[in-house]
Amino acid sequence: MSSFEHILVERKGAVGIVTLNRPKMLNALSFGVFSEIKVAIDDLEADDAVGCIIVTGSEKAFAAGADIKEMQPKGFIDMFSQDFTQIGGDRVATCTKPTIAAVSGYALGGGCELAMMCDIMICSDTAKFGQPEITLGTIPGIGGTQRLTRAIGKSKAMDLCLTGRMMDAAEAERSGLVSRIVPADKLMEEAIAMAEKIAGMSRPVASMAKSAVNRSLETSLAEGLKVERDLFHATFALEDRSEGMAAFIEKRKPVNKNR
Ligand code: CAA
Repeated sequence: MSSFEHILVERKGAVGIVTLNRPKMLNALSFGVFSEIKVAIDDLEADDAVGCIIVTGSEKAFAAGADIKEMQPKGFIDMFSQDFTQIGGDRVATCTKPTIAAVSGYALGGGCELAMMCDIMICSDTAKFGQPEITLGTIPGIGGTQRLTRAIGKSKAMDLCLTGRMMDAAEAERSGLVSRIVPADKLMEEAIAMAEKIAGMSRPVASMAKSAVNRSLETSLAEGLKVERDLFHATFALEDRSEGMAAFIEKRKPVNKNR
């Protein structure tokens, strides 16, 4: 496993956990942090023992956004020639294994954007989400106007991006940004339980389900339904599919071979 300065990476059974670790700066996402997250996801994706990955922060902050102190002196050419995606800032979104953002406290700007790159977001009752970039004279730069709009719709996304206000956990769940709210002291327990459950499924089938859902955000309904049908048919080439159905009929738990 690689060594890191700004994040902690651990493996609990079949669950990989990436924890942002810049507590004095509320996990502000510098270029260095984004680069380390990329390496961590590369490592965990290549690790056959890992079936699901959690991205999390601290109790006070998942991440309070891109590092404003690092960005302030930069000009257009600096940001254009080395932007966040070029250093792998969107690596979480391209991960083929299922990912869960476990959010407590602030998930603002790039923090909200990083959480939205994950497949599932669960949050504690203390979570606060927002895209406050407009208050800094800029706009979201790594998915905030795009993924947020797809997740919560145009009016609320405009509300957040144009006023810079924060949304609490209840509003985030109501609007479909998060799938579950849990008490703050239970966040990691719940996230790990969810990740273990997902990691226990057939790995190729989990990747297919993830891929099909993600496809719905990129294509027409007719094309998406075709992709889904093709992948559904493809599961019939897998041992895990015949085992899964046999186990149901024989009233036992399936043993996935991940093939
Ligand atoms: N970048 C750099 N430093 C940050 C930071 C950020 N995004 N957020 C917090 N910090 C630093 C603060 O400067 C402070 O450092 P000092 O002690 O050295 O002054 C430390 O973290 C603690 O922060 P606060 O004292 O401000 O803590 P608070 O509890 O009073 O407020 C907060 C918390 C409301 C989250 C506030 O810190 C805040 O508004 N942060 C900035 C949020 C923001 O604007 N994010 C968007 C960034 S731009 C972006 O993300 C672009 C993109 O789309 C890619």
